Amino acid sequence: MNEPTLVENCVERAQQVFPAGSNGEFNLPPELSIVIDRGKGGELWDTEGRRFLDFSLGWGSSLIGHANPKVVEAVRRQAPLGSNFAYITRDSLQLAEEIVRVSPACEQVRFCASGTEATMYCQRLARSFTGRRKILKFEGAYHGANEIGVTSLFPTSPPNYPHPDPTSAGIEAIVKPTVLVAPFNDLATTERIVAKHAHELAGVIAEPLQRCVPPAEGFLEGLRELTERYGILLMFDEVVTGFRLAYGGAQEYYGVVPDLVAYGKALGGGYPIGAFGARREIMDLVREDRMGQPDYMWVASTLGGNPISMAAACAALEVFAGKGVYEHLHWLGRYVREGIERVLSDAQVTSQVIGDGPLAQVVFSDQPVHDYRSTKAGDGARGRVLALELFRRGVFLNPMGTKLYISLAHDEAICDEFLEIFAASLAATS
Ligand SMILES: Cc1ncc(COP(=O)(O)O)c(C=O)c1O
Repeated sequence: MNEPTLVENCVERAQQVFPAGSNGEFNLPPELSIVIDRGKGGELWDTEGRRFLDFSLGWGSSLIGHANPKVVEAVRRQAPLGSNFAYITRDSLQLAEEIVRVSPACEQVRFCASGTEATMYCQRLARSFTGRRKILKFEGAYHGANEIGVTSLFPTSPPNYPHPDPTSAGIEAIVKPTVLVAPFNDLATTERIVAKHAHELAGVIAEPLQRCVPPAEGFLEGLRELTERYGILLMFDEVVTGFRLAYGGAQEYYGVVPDLVAYGKALGGGYPIGAFGARREIMDLVREDRMGQPDYMWVASTLGGNPISMAAACAALEVFAGKGVYEHLHWLGRYVREGIERVLSDAQVTSQVIGDGPLAQVVFSDQPVHDYRSTKAGDGARGRVLALELFRRGVFLNPMGTKLYISLAHDEAICDEFLEIFAASLAATS
């Protein structure tokens, strides 16, 4: 009998110890399962030496590219000096100062270890600050694995607005009475919901670029005006957009300043990170010397601000602050989106490519895409078949969402190679 290869062996072992054989990442069919060995720049290699073009980037966390030499050097310098003190270090201080400098909403920040934590603290701050309990979110938005973050993320038969769909088991009792849901980019409907519930509404949380759907002209400005009018806090989840659309994130890119901001992903240079911030009067609620007061708000994150992530983040921001970085990222994004559009149009496939900055997504629909429902109206099954074919041909991407992340380490050659594989995959699945 032949010895099983390492990868078969690993896949089999994974089936035993991980639900569906995965750590929750991609849920690939077993024949496509791989085990990753290493990454460099915009490429990955599996344990059998097979090369992949990476258009997932650790769900966008490695915007800087895998194993960026400056990040590696910073981590190497810090590692022998200790990996966690749960206390301020020079790097965490420097990083906090830099976030406060570039984020107009933030006079103060706190670090945590993930985007999920960061948005959870923003929601809790909104409630603590206003003394109200409801949060409004937009259908189809993801704010991490916390209860509000997953609510109405993938509703199959969405309830009428503003009723939430739990999307996950185990949260219904929490989110039904506390979460309101509105359609992204529909200011009139949002305004009606906000006006009706203003007395119990603590905050509105939004991904300024929702998944890959850009905000309609005036939508974010409208949210700003609306929330201000009713004394409701506006939260921008910048976990994806932060340091990606611009150095100053969506706040700079779209020119709208929220009350609360959550960061994660790209900020960490590929290492675990989360951060949230706001003006001082809001952040004051988390001061530990207020403990015992009714509006004191609990924050604690064992690995938040750990020196390894802080060192990596400081190094990453130094790179992001370099000349021409955002011009390059936007150029790459446009290059990929326009290239995909060309391939799809040559093949006469009804579709459109959405996204902004270094992000792209194909929607198989000719109807305008402006929110969750119009995105879902596209042919999702076709998208998944195409994504699996891309994967089969060496493009590492998330076949669940087909949102493509492009890194600073991608170049024209990688994008051209991707576009060739895209054309071949489309032909093979048409
Ligand atoms: C917009 C947005 N917010 C929050 C999160 C959660 O971040 P994390 O996975 O680091 O908890 C994600 C993750 O994909 C995200 O896309």
